[in-house]
Amino acid sequence: MEKTLVIIKPDGVKRGLIGNIIKRIEDKGYIISAMMMKQLSKEQLDQHYEEHKNKTFYPSLVSYMSSGNSLIMIVEGVNAIKGMRKIMGATDPIEAEPGSIRGMYGNNKTQNLIHGSDSLESAEREINLFFNSF
Ligand code: PPS
Repeated sequence: MEKTLVIIKPDGVKRGLIGNIIKRIEDKGYIISAMMMKQLSKEQLDQHYEEHKNKTFYPSLVSYMSSGNSLIMIVEGVNAIKGMRKIMGATDPIEAEPGSIRGMYGNNKTQNLIHGSDSLESAEREINLFFNSF
């Protein structure tokens, strides 16, 4: 069993897509073992997205991600890290497979509904950041 950190981003919460997205996760057989609704602070986002700090899109990413509530979850299951990334689809919804969450509902690379950890190390770091530090 693997654990991964999943965030339903502010556009997903505002558009009322939480139910649809959680259904996709549970239909796949994954278990949601922790869940928290929260408006993320700049401080939390600076730590979460530290690898992107020097990218040109960084200011708009933080401004968007702190603009409203997000639903932060720990998702568990066999190969949950890769499996969640597959269900989510590519970062850019235009490139995402039509059946994926971003392919079905996503608008652009910033407002793309959902985040999932990209490796075991990231999952451990992100779970600690959101569920053990603040
Ligand atoms: S990249 O380009 O390889 O760094 O992209 P990636 O690692 O897939 O994800 C970067 C995260 O930043 C968000 N974001 C953007 N990415 C690319 N271009 C633009 N303009 C952009 N704006 C925001 C993107 O949604 C990824 O967020 P997470 O939460 O990690 O999925």
